[in-house]
Amino acid sequence: DAPTPRIALPPVIGHRGAAGLAPENTLPGLRAAAEAGCRWVEVDVMLAACGTPMLHHDVSLERIEGIAGRLDQWTATQLAELDAGAAFDPAFAGTRIPTLAEALAEMVRLNLQVNLEIKPAPGAARETAEATVRTVRDLWPEDRPKPLLSSFQRDSLAAARDKGPELPRGLIVQNRPVRWSEVLRELDCVSLHLAADHLLPAESREVTDAGWAVAAYTVNDGGTAARLRGWGVDAIITDRPDLIPNDL
Ligand code: G3P
Ligand code: MG
Repeated sequence: DAPTPRIALPPVIGHRGAAGLAPENTLPGLRAAAEAGCRWVEVDVMLAACGTPMLHHDVSLERIEGIAGRLDQWTATQLAELDAGAAFDPAFAGTRIPTLAEALAEMVRLNLQVNLEIKPAPGAARETAEATVRTVRDLWPEDRPKPLLSSFQRDSLAAARDKGPELPRGLIVQNRPVRWSEVLRELDCVSLHLAADHLLPAESREVTDAGWAVAAYTVNDGGTAARLRGWGVDAIITDRPDLIPNDL
């Protein structure tokens, strides 16, 4: 018999909100994910220079905001002046980089569950995790399923485990590490998040058979999603939740 998984992940998780439908890591992106039928979203959390957790993927402000600067060198007040929407589509001009606090409030309003990826700027692994835990504790309603904290950075997951042991954790990797079950136990994780492009057919089922949930990123077509589900993947992290059925 299959063991009871340590966490029940949904079939579809919107990536960076719904990065194929609206600007990534923004409030309109959360709304697009909800409208596409997502029950969960994944977003990236990085600290501004003032220590405020923001939703942002890159350290550089170039790709999205078109600015030669770094998110970890600007304060939240300075970042609020930047446009995080126009690079996706001029129709989204004026969209701001949200703080984690603003994003959590919008997720609650939209009834979304969340996977917060701790995405530290260089040198900020522990403090990014600690600020994320503090913000979730302060703002996330007690009566809702707790946010799942994930990271590529093992130092961030260790800090999250130490500061917020009540929040479930997931390890993100490109390739499954050789000693994957030891690492998952050490960091007290409930899930393993694997790059879909690197995933081998048997790998996912071995992880779920051992009781961990598996998420695969980033999958933007239904055929690939169906194949991965057949390999035992629980959750598909996608930019295009409109293309990935919840009941594959
Ligand atoms: O959380 C899964 C996925 O988001 C990890 O990659 O670079 O898109 O944050 P990235
Ligand atoms: Mg991410």
